[in-house]
Amino acid sequence: MSEKALIDNVIPRADVIKRAARIGAEIRNVKLSGDLPDQTIAAINGLLLEHKVIFFRDQGHLDDSEQEGFALRFGNLAPPPLGAAEGTTAIFEIARGGVRADYWHIDWSCMDSYPKISVLRGVVIPPVGGDTVWSNTAAAYLDLPPPLQRLADDLWAVHSMAFDFAVTVRPSEADRKRYDELNARAKYETEHPVVRVHPETGERALVLGAYVTHFVDIPKYDGQRLFDLFESHITAPENTVRWNWKQGDVVMWDNRATMHRASNDYGDQDRVVRRAAIDGEVPVGVDGRCSISRAKLTKQPPAKVV
Ligand SMILES: [Fe+2]
Repeated sequence: MSEKALIDNVIPRADVIKRAARIGAEIRNVKLSGDLPDQTIAAINGLLLEHKVIFFRDQGHLDDSEQEGFALRFGNLAPPPLGAAEGTTAIFEIARGGVRADYWHIDWSCMDSYPKISVLRGVVIPPVGGDTVWSNTAAAYLDLPPPLQRLADDLWAVHSMAFDFAVTVRPSEADRKRYDELNARAKYETEHPVVRVHPETGERALVLGAYVTHFVDIPKYDGQRLFDLFESHITAPENTVRWNWKQGDVVMWDNRATMHRASNDYGDQDRVVRRAAIDGEVPVGVDGRCSISRAKLTKQPPAKVV
């Protein structure tokens, strides 16, 4: 059975509502669980590859372990390098007081085999604000004129857990301190091709975002302009979709063909989302070369100074 026929057979097209022309679809009438039939899981994976990010409302029946059970159907769980939430194997909590993820990024692109899929569950959602925006990085690549595609094909970039805020974001003093603390606990750094070939679809997708510190063999001044140029295509509104969360929503994205960011527009209201990530493949560039890990040293938290 072809992938399209499989999807039509298991999840009717009427239950797939596109949310933007190039990226994003809401899937209705599916109750997510770790016990779904193989064909349904395959259909969900097919829809994920097609739409890059898929949205499920009304999944309030899932708790942490059921979220992990569902995610496990797509591969091995990727334990969060900074530690899993209490009582879970691999759930990473993004909550008020922690990182707000309000910068364009690929989840954990500082790692060589960064997660291929993220599954995010809305646990506490503020009445206003806190939307997430995703971009289709394969569509962004296709938007580039051919000479710029060839330039991107040749470029490599260093992604580091030590965010270079000078490139993309201007942190507050408190945020800078928080990231320094995170960096003391785990350090990852990888050279990735700026264009990776998707292992399942064969599409070419841009690999950039906030973890990038510099391009290989490009001076920083030139590199920042190149970064801005490619990021402007990634963040162009026509390549993006925005999701207004409700409690109990589950959103899955293909972390190999998207970037995303949260909107930090909810003030001091509570917002808690919990993520399970699935192990990914080491990216491969258009010339067949694989990403190169430069550091993956994990350290214990620093001793508390009293
Ligand atoms: Fe993220």
